Amino acid sequence: MKSSDFLLRAERLFNQISQDHEVLRIFKYHSLRVMYFSIYLGQQVGCDDDDLQIASLLHDIGKIGLAKEILLKPSKLDELEYQIIQAHSTIGNNILRKTLNMPRAAVFVRDHHERWDGKGYPRGLEKENISTQGRIIGICDAFDTMTIDRRNYNRRTLTYQEAIRELKRCSWTQFDGKLVDLFESLIHDLDLPTPEHWAENMETIEKIFAAKIID
Ligand SMILES: [Fe+2]
Ligand SMILES: [Fe+2]
Repeated sequence: MKSSDFLLRAERLFNQISQDHEVLRIFKYHSLRVMYFSIYLGQQVGCDDDDLQIASLLHDIGKIGLAKEILLKPSKLDELEYQIIQAHSTIGNNILRKTLNMPRAAVFVRDHHERWDGKGYPRGLEKENISTQGRIIGICDAFDTMTIDRRNYNRRTLTYQEAIRELKRCSWTQFDGKLVDLFESLIHDLDLPTPEHWAENMETIEKIFAAKIID
């Protein structure tokens, strides 16, 4: 894991690029939680290095500059809006590759919306052709979106148990089922409090994972 200095710099970056508090929440807290979940899961399969940390933290960086009306739209996205949203994995890949000069982490960002069955985007990669790190971020991103993140279009958030059930239902179609099984045991092990008790508090987020993540 990179140092807390890294987290401070990341926080500053998120503060800079966010249009307002609601957008900040989406970028900052969702990104941080996905980062911690991803490192914790990555640790189980031996790929919890700096590139996974950076890629998971910046997985949605390609959404920078998107209009809030699309980013937080409470109803279903139309075809064009959906296409615009989908572009974020490619834009994120470009930012990491060209601006940050991190080609390996860029691949993980590019892959985080690929699906095991090849029906994902941007490339429609299948199975092991998707980087393990991309598959890890995808699972952690889906879990966070279902349980905590509020962008799920007027649907209520799921409980942790319900979200795990949903991940399992989508194993070997959307997700790598082996990683989902590992993730399930990690979530049991974490024994998370309800979202309002931790999800938007940097200190509590760090505390929850500090004991679990080996430096
Ligand atoms: Fe994404
Ligand atoms: Fe995300």
